[in-house]
Amino acid sequence: MSEKGNARLVKQATVAMERALANSSKFKVGVALLTKNQKIYQGCNIETITSNLGVCAERVALFKALSEGEREFKVMAIVASSGQVCTPCGICRQLLWEFAPELEIIMVDRHGRTLVKQMRDLLPLPFDRSTLKKSAE
Ligand code: THU
Repeated sequence: MSEKGNARLVKQATVAMERALANSSKFKVGVALLTKNQKIYQGCNIETITSNLGVCAERVALFKALSEGEREFKVMAIVASSGQVCTPCGICRQLLWEFAPELEIIMVDRHGRTLVKQMRDLLPLPFDRSTLKKSAE
């Protein structure tokens, strides 16, 4: 993706981060997910007063997109309110691997420090469809 395209995606993730419901952790996360057909889906983390019912920003954006019929994804920008980039949690990595294995992930902290990774590098030895196939052989 172009520098300009990436900057736009990071901007959208920053806007999404401001909508985070993070009263408990104070750790705000915003995501912007770009599909192959150039649509952007935003997500933020949502925490609840009842413990453990919240959800990560990555899953919010991914599920919004999937439920709108999107199936092909290019880039995800993740912006965090902390002084360190936010890498996706294990649950999100599993889901992203299943639905968006080709994804490029741009992680940005509150100082603008940036880390870029490919999804395949974030989940070594993954469990996926090919594992199921091999077990049936
Ligand atoms: N969180 C995310 O939204 N994405 C991540 O990749 C890691 C963590 C959220 C979940 C929770 O609301 C807060 O950050 C602290 O864990």
